[in-house]
Amino acid sequence: MQRLALDARRGGKRIGVVPTMGFLHDGHASLIREARSQSDLVITTIFVNPLQFAPNEDFSRYPRDLERDTRIADEAGCDVLFTPTPEEMYPPGFDATISIGGVTAPFEGVFRPTHYDGVATVVAKLLTLTQADKAFFGQKDYQQCMVVKKLVRDLSMPHDIIVCPTQREADGLAMSSRNVYLSPENRTKATVLHKALQAAQTLIRAGERRRARIEALLSETILAESGFTIDYAAAADSMTLEQPSEAFAQEQGIVLLLAVRLGGTRLIDNLVV
Ligand code: PAJ
Repeated sequence: MQRLALDARRGGKRIGVVPTMGFLHDGHASLIREARSQSDLVITTIFVNPLQFAPNEDFSRYPRDLERDTRIADEAGCDVLFTPTPEEMYPPGFDATISIGGVTAPFEGVFRPTHYDGVATVVAKLLTLTQADKAFFGQKDYQQCMVVKKLVRDLSMPHDIIVCPTQREADGLAMSSRNVYLSPENRTKATVLHKALQAAQTLIRAGERRRARIEALLSETILAESGFTIDYAAAADSMTLEQPSEAFAQEQGIVLLLAVRLGGTRLIDNLVV
């Protein structure tokens, strides 16, 4: 992979990379299309990264369909699919961990304490292997985007990180490979996440800046449906993820962050207001 990428670079090609864990949907395809429009060589990586799953999480049952992924990536304009095995990425003796600190601590960091070390480590390897000029990530994973931006900044890595908008189903549910875990009944219920984000957005646009009020509306809207456990339903500064003890300043950007569990499936979503 790296030899191919280095050859392309020496030939003057701009390389765009879309890192994924596969089971592609239109959210992934939108990243590939954006990479296509900004690059000469588009590489999509598919690798279900064991390092970013905790022992109790869904690594072994994470959905996989390489044939379908190949078709979707091809149709979206991908030139090269890179699908390494865990043994190729982490051969015997592999020991490194990249710990970014700071922005990895709150929210996902509380519930998945080793997750972002796994993400930072694999993303560093994937960007180096593919020699990415630009790497494309989805806003769907808001905190992950912050982690990856901090990774390349702190380690002076020469890759531009491009964040692309969240793609949603017609009823507002953010597209996710994990949506296939949902029963038909829970799939219907899951639309309440986007409704809660929109309700809180309306409240903020009407002038509400008290964090407790905004977060209460998020939680109440979700819990009006049965079956949900909330990991967090939070409002934070969109640049730093810091949370004011009382109220946001009028001009402060606010990100609404949700992580919930529904029938054994964990769902996340967010909205920047
Ligand atoms: P994965 O969940 O497969 O997502 C790959 C990329 O697609 C991420 O940048 C994610 O934010 C983006 N994405 C997912 N759903 C999206 C949607 N509905 N709209 C727009 N973009 C969406 O995120 C990972 O894999 C991994 O952590 C990875 C970065 C590949 C490292 O292993």
